[in-house]
Amino acid sequence: MRPEHLHSAYETEQSQIEATIGTAPMIRPAQNEELSAEERDRRVLQLYEQLLEIEQRLIPTGLHIFGRVGESQQQADTLRMVASFNRPELGAQSLLDLIAQGLSGSDYDSIKANDGNLQLREQIDRLLSQAIELFLTQGIEPATNLLQDEGKVEPDKSLPMFQLLNQVSFELESNQELDSLMRALGGEYIPAGPGADIVQNPQILPTGRNIHAINPYHVPSVSAFSRAEGVANSLLDRYRKEHGRYPRAMALVLWGLDNIKTQGEGVAQALWLLGVRPTRDSLNRATGVEPIPLEVLQRPRIDVVMTVSGIFRDLFSPTLQLLDKAVRLVAVLDEPAELNYVRRNVIEQIATDNSSFDEAVLRVFSNAPGNYGTNVNFMVMDSQWDQERALGDLFVTRKCFAYGRNSQGESIDGTEARESMDRALTRVEATYQNIDTFEIGITDVDHYFEYLGGISKAVETRAHSKPSIYLSDTLSRDIRVRTLEETVRLESRAKTLNPKWFEGMLKHGFRGVAEIENHLANTFGWSATADAVDDWIYDEVAKTFLMDEAMLDRLRSLNPHSAHSLVGRLLEAEVRGYWESDEDVLGKLREISSSLEDQLEGVI
Ligand code: BEZ
Ligand code: MG
Repeated sequence: MRPEHLHSAYETEQSQIEATIGTAPMIRPAQNEELSAEERDRRVLQLYEQLLEIEQRLIPTGLHIFGRVGESQQQADTLRMVASFNRPELGAQSLLDLIAQGLSGSDYDSIKANDGNLQLREQIDRLLSQAIELFLTQGIEPATNLLQDEGKVEPDKSLPMFQLLNQVSFELESNQELDSLMRALGGEYIPAGPGADIVQNPQILPTGRNIHAINPYHVPSVSAFSRAEGVANSLLDRYRKEHGRYPRAMALVLWGLDNIKTQGEGVAQALWLLGVRPTRDSLNRATGVEPIPLEVLQRPRIDVVMTVSGIFRDLFSPTLQLLDKAVRLVAVLDEPAELNYVRRNVIEQIATDNSSFDEAVLRVFSNAPGNYGTNVNFMVMDSQWDQERALGDLFVTRKCFAYGRNSQGESIDGTEARESMDRALTRVEATYQNIDTFEIGITDVDHYFEYLGGISKAVETRAHSKPSIYLSDTLSRDIRVRTLEETVRLESRAKTLNPKWFEGMLKHGFRGVAEIENHLANTFGWSATADAVDDWIYDEVAKTFLMDEAMLDRLRSLNPHSAHSLVGRLLEAEVRGYWESDEDVLGKLREISSSLEDQLEGVI
């Protein structure tokens, strides 16, 4: 399950990150390689970008403790993120844009898009941080004055954002969790607030309320649909850059809570890939779709296989129907096959497999009614598999139930359709999931690898080649599409191997060690399902937590069970061929493992 806690404390990584070169093996020149000055500059810039990416990432530095407010010094980073986004509903403009406009006349995104503007970018980021610090220590007026003096931002323009920050910071310092719990236990009514994270929607504060979802008929919202266009384009651009053409088909993972938080960004991305837009009925419900003309789309319609979580299926029943309707609509458009991959694939399958149209067009899959999850995470965590293929097969076994309506308009919801799903996956060349929250990343919980890893393994064994695996990060101002491998590196640097993160966890004693161990286990999940973990990540985990005696002693005394699992997982990574390590490191790990075992059995 998702952890009950929310990480409460965040910081961005300000310290020098010495070993970051490990995140970018491509930057290291081969021995004796002669670099031109231009190439050297390009690589240095690339390294700089990567350092900045880690530095600017919000890093949880501890677990939320129920009923307690977060530490105040960590508020600055959260507020900086909140202040980076436009909040049109509150009439508050992004401070980043206001400063960028004041200093250069352009908005922040255009400045970021130009490599030549590094100094200006740093100046804007620095001024924003100073303004937030000043706001926290001295209040609104000194902060608006600073922005006026140094960023040429009129105070009446920055004021609405500072008023929002004032409210957020006040609410972060109050906490009604325990009080609400006691009242709920006493049978009292607890008012509800929206479900999201602070950056996406500051109205979630104060905590300690019930959470309400959204009306599924509003999904995707107009703004989610508009945001999704850029992500879908970046995703296809990335694939094209690597492969020189569009993918024949993609597989997408859609989750319920994420689509609540983003009002359906994941759903909207799927619609964009197919090249359709939602239409609204007289009650303003998104119940229909219409094709975006190919002349407007300027690219082929991509075939999309959607696997949705059980939670999504339960919460977004009308949306499932919308997605199925979209695929069926696209499949019958009178368009050239080379510009409509859904149509091409459906026609091909009918011709070669003797499938009916209704069999060949199924693209929306979930669990059987009443069932949840893929169980791939349990199989990995319990080391209950021999061939990796079993992980992908389990995914399909759990998720091969189709949703939608057939050509006669009859519901097919929950019909087992294994053959159709297997067949649809044989064509998939890229898999993808949108990450919606800065609170939980791909190594924080086992659900990302059970879903995105599970489907990728299922594709690999059916299509007979490993798909390109992507994630997008719509958490910050700049939308990034990264490969899975890049995301694993980034998460490892920003969290698992980052002293700020692990020291923050270790403050929680027993639970903190368990969190570190979880991170390694989830990282291992990406080896098992997608072979996406570099050797250096396992090397560094061994070095940081086990080869360092002082650290090992701390882990051992705080939580010997998790310490034992940690070393066991590393050894398993080696045995299964996911990690190549020196024999002396392995020997030492075996020793540590047996001494922890002795400790647990009370021998020492
Ligand atoms: C969901 O929101 O759909 C979801 C939540 C936790 C795990 C998997 C899916
Ligand atoms: Mg490897």
